Amino acid sequence: MTSRIRPESAQDIPAIREVVRAAFPQDAEMRLVDRLRASGDIANSLVCEADGFIVGHALLSRMNARADGRPVAAAALAPVSVLPECQREGIGTRLIERIIEDARASGFALLFVVGDPDYYSRFGFSTDAAARYRSPYRGPQFMALPLAPNLPTPYEADAAYPAAFDQLENS
Ligand SMILES: CC(C)(COP(=O)(O)OP(=O)(O)OC[C@H]1O[C@@H](n2cnc3c(N)ncnc32)[C@H](O)[C@@H]1OP(=O)(O)O)[C@@H](O)C(=O)NCCC(=O)NCCS
Repeated sequence: MTSRIRPESAQDIPAIREVVRAAFPQDAEMRLVDRLRASGDIANSLVCEADGFIVGHALLSRMNARADGRPVAAAALAPVSVLPECQREGIGTRLIERIIEDARASGFALLFVVGDPDYYSRFGFSTDAAARYRSPYRGPQFMALPLAPNLPTPYEADAAYPAAFDQLENS
């Protein structure tokens, strides 16, 4: 099977919704993607296409972050979805590596993710890098990946996810 990672196109939207719906046990993440699309907060949306079918998807959205009073160009990685029958073939890794590479090229200084530390630490995310950022997600699963060189560790910082995430727990 040949597969490639590429930016989404408008025609992919129904297939992306199906992939996200299939990857998670509930439809909350699929609806999160819909809300982020509607609010215009998406910074990057990548798909993995295999033999003409969308089998994986990763989304990056712009955050409102400040460190010691200064704005930080930050983005949130969520959700990452791979069709259950295509998991553990490296598709998630390729999507995440590419979205990080694109984010660096676009000038983002810091990425955040909420997820399994064992998985996301492979890509350089760490709880330590997120520790000074106030967030409702603060805890062992709240991780950050600095992309800008020499990004100072702030004394006081905030990382606000787009409003679309507020409804995640209730959806
Ligand atoms: C998480 C997910 C995107 C990974 O995609 P994938 O294509 O299966 O991942 P890869 O093949 O690149 O990597 C597989 C490796 O990651 C590990 N892994 C996969 N999902 C994991 C998870 N939720 N937690 C910890 N490790 C995980 C596997 O153990 C595997 O490790 P191995 O190679 O040592 O066996 C995919 O499993 C998925 O869609 N899961 C359901 C949705 C989800 O939980 N998304 C993440 C939160 S936003």
